[in-house]
Amino acid sequence: MRYKTIVTLSVVLGTVIMLSGFMPREEKRASNLKVLPKNISNEELDKVMDGFKAALGVKCNFCHAASADDPKHLDFASDAKPEKEIARSMMKMTYRINKKDFHIKDVYNPKAVLAVNCITCHRGQAHPDEK
Ligand code: HEC
Ligand code: HEC
Repeated sequence: MRYKTIVTLSVVLGTVIMLSGFMPREEKRASNLKVLPKNISNEELDKVMDGFKAALGVKCNFCHAASADDPKHLDFASDAKPEKEIARSMMKMTYRINKKDFHIKDVYNPKAVLAVNCITCHRGQAHPDEK
């Protein structure tokens, strides 16, 4: 009787442990957002970042510093590169123009259709003021 109970319990426990391996993992969220909404989905964040990349004609490492432990990878949360902070003020300026001058509501929502975006000025260049 006791033996049976132990066997049943271990089968149940084993099944629970096995199934938990198939459960979706907690999504890895951004940890250092100061301008974008904190609850932005990973998919929306990727879209915003791909937009920056295309608008400025650069790669991710233009704004993001290499990881200290593994220089082959970027540390996206790090603020070590000044370009990232410039990009933050550019984001605020861009959102402000859309809100104040184009009366677009909810400009921080990644789904909002903006009148002015990074590409409006940058057109594939990091320095739109240079020829
Ligand atoms: C023009 C500059 C720029 C480029 C290019 C850029 N990013 Fe970013 N990225 C930023 C800024 C600025 C933030 C922080 C936004 C904020 O504070 O709300 C950020 C934040 C992030 C974060 C969140 C990090 C955290 O933990 O807070 C990830 C992930 C990320 N970027 C990935 C990428 C990837 C992948 C690429 C290339 C496809 C890329 N970025 C290209 C400027 C850039
Ligand atoms: C109204 C026009 C305009 C808009 C919109 C704009 N930018 Fe800029 N941006 C500029 C100009 C002009 C410069 C060059 C300033 C300088 O060299 O001093 C610049 C410079 C930058 C730089 C610095 C490049 C460097 O190497 O120093 C970054 C990064 C940047 N912009 C990111 C962005 C991002 C990201 C967006 C969209 C969220 C954006 N910009 C939207 C006009 C704009």
